[in-house]
Amino acid sequence: MKKFKRTTVTAALPYANGPLHIGHVAGAYLPADTYVRYLRLRGDDIVFICGSDEHGVAITLGAKKEGVSPKAFVDKYHNLMKKAFQDFGIGFDIYSRTSQPVHYETAQEFFKTIYDQGIFLEETSDQYYDEQEGIFLADRYITGTCPKCGNTNAYGDQCEKCGTSLSPRELINPRSTVSGNTPVLKPTKHWYFPLDKYESWLKEWIVEGHKDDWKTNVYGQCKSWIDQGLQPRSITRDLAWGIPVPLAEGKGKVLYVWFDAPIGYISATKELKPNDWQKYWQDNDTRLIHFIGKDNIVFHCVIFPSMLKAAGKYILPDNVPANEFLNLEGEKISTSRNHAVWLHEYLEDFPGRRDELRYTLTSISPETKDADFTWKDYQSKVNSELSAILGNFVNRVMVLTWKYFDGKVPSAHELPGTNDHRKRILEKYQQAHNDLNASVKEMISALDDFRFREAQFQMMNLCRIGNKFLADTEPWKLAKEDMEAVSCILSYALTVVGNIAIACEPFLPDTAQNIKKQLNSTGIDTGWNAFWKKAELIEPLPESHQLGKAELLFRNIEDEEIEKQINKLKKPKAVEEVKPESAVKPLKETITIDDFTKLDIRVGTILTAEKMEKSDKLLKFTIDTGIDKRTVLSGIAKHYTPEEMVGKQVTLIANLAPRKMMGIESQGMILMAEDADGKLRLLQPNEAVNPGATVS
Ligand code: 2FM
Ligand code: ZN
Repeated sequence: MKKFKRTTVTAALPYANGPLHIGHVAGAYLPADTYVRYLRLRGDDIVFICGSDEHGVAITLGAKKEGVSPKAFVDKYHNLMKKAFQDFGIGFDIYSRTSQPVHYETAQEFFKTIYDQGIFLEETSDQYYDEQEGIFLADRYITGTCPKCGNTNAYGDQCEKCGTSLSPRELINPRSTVSGNTPVLKPTKHWYFPLDKYESWLKEWIVEGHKDDWKTNVYGQCKSWIDQGLQPRSITRDLAWGIPVPLAEGKGKVLYVWFDAPIGYISATKELKPNDWQKYWQDNDTRLIHFIGKDNIVFHCVIFPSMLKAAGKYILPDNVPANEFLNLEGEKISTSRNHAVWLHEYLEDFPGRRDELRYTLTSISPETKDADFTWKDYQSKVNSELSAILGNFVNRVMVLTWKYFDGKVPSAHELPGTNDHRKRILEKYQQAHNDLNASVKEMISALDDFRFREAQFQMMNLCRIGNKFLADTEPWKLAKEDMEAVSCILSYALTVVGNIAIACEPFLPDTAQNIKKQLNSTGIDTGWNAFWKKAELIEPLPESHQLGKAELLFRNIEDEEIEKQINKLKKPKAVEEVKPESAVKPLKETITIDDFTKLDIRVGTILTAEKMEKSDKLLKFTIDTGIDKRTVLSGIAKHYTPEEMVGKQVTLIANLAPRKMMGIESQGMILMAEDADGKLRLLQPNEAVNPGATVS
């Protein structure tokens, strides 16, 4: 196996469209964090990269649902996720976001590098366009009747009722979800990445080259994708939210989110290491590892590597240890049904119990197949494993050492003589020592292979073996007759405790700190990483070393705590869909006075008003603006009748670019106040003024 000088570890950039739940944690972030902690303990040069994925339809749809701007929307969830990761102790070197200027530059430059080599294909095709809104519609913005099952609310990319993958043009009676109108087909130009051209290279690199070292689920998915034949992929979109296509003819278009997001790993590394980021992305001595969930496999194993290859200079992922999905109480985790355990809520409900969740999630980690989290299982893992095995062993050794040796590490006597109990102790010691070293080796080999479930199991084996050693040697029974034997047993038991403090750190970092505090090991732990390098037990504590106070490492989880969590799951609250707590929309971004003075706001008088045919929202007005008499359309038909509008004074933005709605050009926008419940009221001067009066 090739020896690398350093490792770049990435964890999938989560969409900033909702809080994190345990499915996210178990899928990518916990295994990544465990691995990174292991590499750091080994003394490797490593960067651990993550951040929020802030583009794409997931964001714009979410923002629309919450009635806020995409920017306000991603700000909210970026901050929430960043804090939850931090509070949970995921040790990213950087948690960035794809709205950072450095990412815009990096993604655009990446696009240009490939574009300049003439690699992209360009194609103009007909796509659905919403004439009222003046926008092309992403697949998710179009609904209609599924041609397969007749579901009238199928999306442009999929029918969620029968599961069929669709393209928008297959929908019967398509509707725009933005305006509710029927969209029209209009030609638009897009850029395509010719994935088909990379097919033979991908076959060689993955199908031949990673057959043995990539996980079966990852390898299998890639192989079946490649075997089906690859097609060019469109990498631009007609959307208002995203990274602009850096070409004059790309005006109004943005990069497809799956083009820009993985480049986010590179941008975040640049942000973290502005002077030597290349080392982590462009040096063949660097190993690149992507931690992701199974829905991201094709993007990370097939598409992004082809992009990296096309851009030149970049290293390719050495491994992509993707996990399968985590279910909850036997059902799929669902954000919209609130069937989830939210990370930030767990941290509030179980303060100081981060390791308990880490332990449970790693022990059921969906490494080879989907797994199920249940609260009862969580309780049993905490009470019968963490507390009864690990906590109990450490506590027994600490308490006995205080009892018999005033909390000082006793001497590891040779135990000369041939009497039976001494012979038995030596035998048991030898057996424990061999078993412990075997487990350490197994644990490290499992960590190297991304088998974290097994690795954690082996770590717990150290505690099981420790407990067995105490039970076999029964030092409490020997205290009256052979203190040298007691000293020998406890000295070795403390060695085991010290090695457990080291071994549990990748899995249970808080527990590792807690044991170290009890061992009072600050200052004596300088050589402890030899454990990781040699893959065997070390002697962590010198004789006579004074221990700290003994404390229980874990508290049992009571039935009531579990009941409360299970009941919480039964509440049908839809987290995604709730309006913000306050009835007031959040403040928009700050603007300058120059931004404001660009607006020409005038008072005008309504001369005529009528309903627009085929629209239950729009009224059409002729307005005397003092400057001219113009046509303005406004979506207030549900709030005012045409009759009551005639003669009213209104304020309007008079210099807004004219916009066509339902075939009629609107030359301005009437200002309205909108209440939290959506009720609209006109904004009028409180006394009549002449038409054309300015507003400032
Ligand atoms: O599935 C997701 O949540 C995506 N936002 C993952 C992106 S990973 C990467 F490419 F940035
Ligand atoms: Zn269907």
